[in-house]
Parts: sequence; C-alpha cells; structure tokens
Amino acid sequence: MANTILVGAQWGDEGKGKIIDVLTEQADVVVRTQGGNNAGHTVHIGGQKYVLHLVPSGILRKKKVCVIANGVVVDPVSLVKEIEGLSKLGIKTIGSLFLSETAHLVLPYHRELDSQREILKGKNKIGTTKRGIGPAYGDKAARTGLRVLDLINPERFKKQLAWKLKENNEILKAFGAKPLSFKQVHGAYREAGDFLKPYVTNTVILLHEALRRGDDILFEGAQGTFLDIDHGTYPFVTSSNTTAGGACTGSGVAPHRMDRVVGVMKAYTTRVGEGPLPTENAEIADMLHAMGREFGATTGRPRRCGWFDSVATRHACMVNGIDELAVTNLDGLDTVAAIRVCIGYRADGKQFDYVPNDIEILGRCQPVYAEFPGWETPTHDARKWNDLPARARSYLKAIAELTGARLTIASVGPGREQTIFV
Ligand code: GDP
Ligand code: IMO
Ligand code: MG
Repeated sequence: MANTILVGAQWGDEGKGKIIDVLTEQADVVVRTQGGNNAGHTVHIGGQKYVLHLVPSGILRKKKVCVIANGVVVDPVSLVKEIEGLSKLGIKTIGSLFLSETAHLVLPYHRELDSQREILKGKNKIGTTKRGIGPAYGDKAARTGLRVLDLINPERFKKQLAWKLKENNEILKAFGAKPLSFKQVHGAYREAGDFLKPYVTNTVILLHEALRRGDDILFEGAQGTFLDIDHGTYPFVTSSNTTAGGACTGSGVAPHRMDRVVGVMKAYTTRVGEGPLPTENAEIADMLHAMGREFGATTGRPRRCGWFDSVATRHACMVNGIDELAVTNLDGLDTVAAIRVCIGYRADGKQFDYVPNDIEILGRCQPVYAEFPGWETPTHDARKWNDLPARARSYLKAIAELTGARLTIASVGPGREQTIFV
C-alpha cells in the first residue's frame, strides 16, 4: 500500500474513519498526527458502531500498530476513558497502541477557557467542540504547554501543574468563571498518567524503525482542509494543520517518505460549527436530518449541509497534493431528482474559480451550479462499479474530474463491505 496520508477534503466528517478502517487492511501502522478529541471518527463493523476520538481508527483491526504522534493534543483523562470503552468492546490496546512522549496535554483549564472565550464572542463564536483544543495548541505555540513526558514524571508534573493552575485560575476569575482545584485536577491527571505510562514511547523512533522494516504506514487525518489553521476559513477553523503537511510535522516522518495522498470527501458537503459554507442548502439539510443522518459524532450537533462544492475540493486537491479520491455517502443522494454541484462562485460582481481568503467575501459568495440528473435508486447494496446506476457513475466521474484527482473508492453505506474500489 506504501505510505499514505489520508486527509479530509472538506470541512471534516467526510467519513475518514470508515475509509481508514477499509485501508488499514493493507497497512501495518496507523498514525494520528494532529488534532485531539475534537475528532469523532465513526466505524461500523458487523452491526457494531465505534466512535474514535484520539485512538487511530486502525485499532479495530488485529495486529496493527497504532500511534498517537507528537502533533496530537491529548486529554489524558479522555484517552483513558476511550481505551476503557474499547476494552469493554473486546478491543485490546496494550502492545498495539503507542502514545508520543512529546504530544501536548489538554488540561481542564484549556476546556474551561475554550468555553469562556466562546461565551465572550457571543454571536461571533467559532462553534468549537469545547474540548480545549485551541487553548492547548495556544500553549504549545507560546511554549508554556505540558507534555506527556511531564505527565508521567510525578514530581515535575506537580510543580508545573501548580504553576499553570495559578496562572490560569487568575484568567478564569477574570472571565467570571470558577477557579479549578489543584487537588482535583492533580489527582485525576496523575491517575490517568499512571494508566497511560505503559503506552508512552518515543514514537519518532518507533515510526522510523517501522519505515526501515518496510512497513506501510497510514497517516489518519482529523478534521478537514477548510478547518486547517493556515488554509481554512480562518478564524472559523481548528488550531492544527489538518492538511497533508501536518502529517509530516505531526509525526516526524519526512515528506519524501510519503508515497500518496488520499482525499476523503462526501458526495455533498457538511460542516459543524460556524463560518462560511457557500453551498449550504436547507432542503438537503432537512432531507438528510430526516433520514437520521448528519449529526456530529463528537457533540451530537446537527451538521449544516449543502451541495457538493468543487471549487472547495479543487482547492483541497491543490494544498494537499491529493492523488486519489474516496467519495463517501453517495447513498445520501439516492432520492434526489436533480443534484447540484457548485462549479464557481460569484460575489461583488466578480466570478471566482478558487476559494477567496477573505471570509467576508467567501460569506457573500453565491454558488454557480451545474445540475446532474439523480439516479433515484438505492445504492446501499452496490459492491462493484458496475452495480451502481449509470447516473451515479456519471455523477462520481464528474465530481472527481472537477476536483482534479483520480476516484479510487466510492462508499455507499457506513459498513466496511459497502465500499466500491474503482
Ligand atoms: P470522520 O470524522 O471523517 O471520520 O466522519 P464521521 O464519522 O464524523 O462522520 C461520517 C458519518 O458518515 C459517520 O456516521 C459514518 O458512519 C457515515 N458514513 C461514512 N461513509 C458513509 C457512506 O458511504 N454512507 C453512509 N450512509 N454513511 C457513511
Ligand atoms: P473530524 O476529525 C468536523 C470544528 C468545530 C468548529 C471548529 C473549531 O471528526 O472530522 P475546535 O473544537 O477544533 O476548536 O473547533 O472545528 N471541528 C470539526 N468539525 N469534524 C471534526 O473532526 C472537527 N473538529 C473540529 O465544529 O467549527
Ligand atoms: Mg467526525
């Protein structure tokens, strides 16, 4: 399979978890390189649904090495809960899951600050997952963060936490929020530190040993291109590099060791949280929500929905260097008679064939649509390209061509088996 970076080509929740699970069959190692438990990656296997937040989706296949690498921000208490949840479902993690020593920690003051900042922003809020992701990456950039190697060093952790709580409690008080108790935070996080210690290692060395063995590594992206801190719809973004480059800095594996980039995108568009979404459409949102689809895997919020936006996915193709496309949720369009695809934007009397950086302009962009006839046939049971209705094949070919990459996977349901290799 070679070394593969998998990224979301839209606004997150493209179905990366499902595609990672499918591709893991061919991989030896699966690595998360950025983001934190803001991610929610859903995998359905034989009637069982798994939602992964920090643990790579590769954990659901036996004998795969799974790595939470240096670029991830880790809430240790939440990671322990996730590991315990997996263990209850019979998924073993010890010996297959490894946590980077240098991953930064998310602590309760990050979560609290995340919430307080959102309250202060009022109607201009980002709509974060309130998992403390922004403040944790903020501390990392400010060089005031705590890392996994601090957590598992009891003396050092105690001293550093005391200092951090002193500072952050003052900030919380200024927001009018309740200060945090050192005793409670210290107790809970030290307990999590002891639990996680057997998983902790130097993951850069581990990954390079795997490379020397000739192992195939799959880099599991979280969030999506337009949530990238540099390339997304700033400030309505997350705080990490969700694009392909993030896989290199977030793991310590160099760009020239990567063999291909797979972009995952839905056959339509969704977004959770605030910020521009040019093809947003109430009708398609109502239709998908009525089917019980498109509710956030992490926060349960209804996702905003719209038509497929090829201006956006073409941009994603460019900044990620996407070679191959996996299109998911094709079945979501099974009942639509006329399917629209955005092929350009219009704003302020100008035409755009790229995504403008100024979100005020992007917010004013009106999509220019092409229309495709719907197939109006269930696709759930299709397993081969030729099982798909001709109109569904034409639609897939068209959106791949507009995006500018080769279609290699089409997904027609959440299950592993509902996957068509093109
Ligand atoms: P991720 O964050 O990119 O991993 O995506 P999420 O798991 O948050 O959201 C994708 C949702 O779509 C999940 O509920 C998946 O089970 C579901 N899903 C993925 N592919 C398909 C598909 O082809 N058809 C249907 N019906 N559901 C899918
Ligand atoms: P996966 O990996 C969709 C969104 C939030 C908000 C913005 C910032 O499942 O695709 P944050 O909590 O990161 O500071 O929130 O980013 N967001 C996601 N949207 N999927 C995700 O992850 C997301 N992770 C963050 O809704 O708009
Ligand atoms: Mg998700």
